[in-house]
Amino acid sequence: MSEGEKIRVMIVDDIVDTRDQLEKLLFFEKDIEVIAKASNGREAVVMAKEYHPDVVLMDINMPDMDGIAATEAIMSQDPTIQVIIMSVQGETDYLRRAMLAGAREFLTKPISADDLYKSIRHVHRLAASRPKVTMQSNDTKSDTKSSGTQGQIIAVFSPKGGVGSSSIAANLAVALRQLTNKKVALLDGNVIFGDLSVILNLRSDKTIIDIASRIDDIDGDLLNDVMATHTSQVKVLLAPSDPQRGELVTADHIRAILDLMRQEFDFIVVDTPASFQDRTLAMLDMANRIVTLMTLEMHCIRNIRLFLEVADLLEYPHEKVMLVLNKASNRTGIKAEDVEKNIQRKLVHQIGDAGAEITYAINQGVPLVIGKPTHQVARDIIALAKDLAGGTKPAEAGSSASTAAPPEQKSGGLFSRLITKR
Ligand SMILES: Nc1ncnc2c1ncn2[C@@H]1O[C@H](COP(=O)(O)OP(=O)(O)OP(=O)(O)O)[C@@H](O)[C@H]1O
Ligand SMILES: [Mg+2]
Repeated sequence: MSEGEKIRVMIVDDIVDTRDQLEKLLFFEKDIEVIAKASNGREAVVMAKEYHPDVVLMDINMPDMDGIAATEAIMSQDPTIQVIIMSVQGETDYLRRAMLAGAREFLTKPISADDLYKSIRHVHRLAASRPKVTMQSNDTKSDTKSSGTQGQIIAVFSPKGGVGSSSIAANLAVALRQLTNKKVALLDGNVIFGDLSVILNLRSDKTIIDIASRIDDIDGDLLNDVMATHTSQVKVLLAPSDPQRGELVTADHIRAILDLMRQEFDFIVVDTPASFQDRTLAMLDMANRIVTLMTLEMHCIRNIRLFLEVADLLEYPHEKVMLVLNKASNRTGIKAEDVEKNIQRKLVHQIGDAGAEITYAINQGVPLVIGKPTHQVARDIIALAKDLAGGTKPAEAGSSASTAAPPEQKSGGLFSRLITKR
């Protein structure tokens, strides 16, 4: 669609009042035009062929042919059509199936005018990025990463929640960008309860779901379109605000996304959840470095010891797992040196306890390394970033583990992975 042209919408719903209400809502939008209305799935498939709409608003429950079957048929006939599914709350299973059928977005009834306009424009913008892709060869992009080599994936992980993974991941990504001026991505791997949008004060309705839902079509342009840009120029792939939708992201999605990201960026920082779910394992497997955070608390030290055992069983090289002490202070009654002796590993970096400062920074939406770069904790994070960016060559394990291991080994969770190793 060139500029000035309208987004052509087809409405599919078996209830005549709903069709009319939606049409009325769209009537005054200058860039949107309702070109057809269908009362069931079968009619919709026929009309889609005839009218070639840009966007279809599709109800799920309809007689004769339901919205999911119709979406599948329309998508196989013309994959450039963007389908937005309309459903009532609690239809999670339907939503999953609709997404597999090729739907791009979901709207929950009753639908607000604002959500409706936003969704139509959003899916249409995403679709509009596709022709550009085929016309543009990879090496003509202006903002490509600086070298032909793959980017480095740095996972920030802790086997214990609340240790500071998200705060450190966000600050680390910004510090890497400031130090190197290279292309830096930040992935919110907490797809269920991600909070990087809050930590970095980013507002965007585009999330990892927009990538996962069209995983077979993803490329640099789509990624670029979906990722939010922080003022530091770090590009961020956000998690959905609705935890239910986060469940739609699989370990395979994560692998494909990280694979693309390392072609597009020099550094990819991943904020990982404190779990051993398949998704998290995919992130850890693919990482060149795992910044493994711990605090001087007994239960955290215990979990770290267990994680180090797991990392050995998963055959992660020692240099891949970087132990980093966060909230370091001498007020906990446990000394860092004693911990090192106990776990027989060196803590390669220590990040001080910023007290309320880091929380204040989060509440302001300005990372500490920007708001207070001279603060000792900001300096500690910058030192970690320098280490990751410079000198020491990261472990190759990330790429080899992800390509060498057969796919069956990568699924089934930690337990089955370890069992098959024995
Ligand atoms: N170096 C630090 N000094 C003081 N407070 C810190 C430091 N790092 C993180 N925090 C604080 O610790 C709390 C937890 O941080 P954060 O949310 O980043 O942890 P998380 O590991 O991502 O947690 P979750 O498991 O919930 O995802 C926040 O209040 C944050 O401000
Ligand atoms: Mg977190």
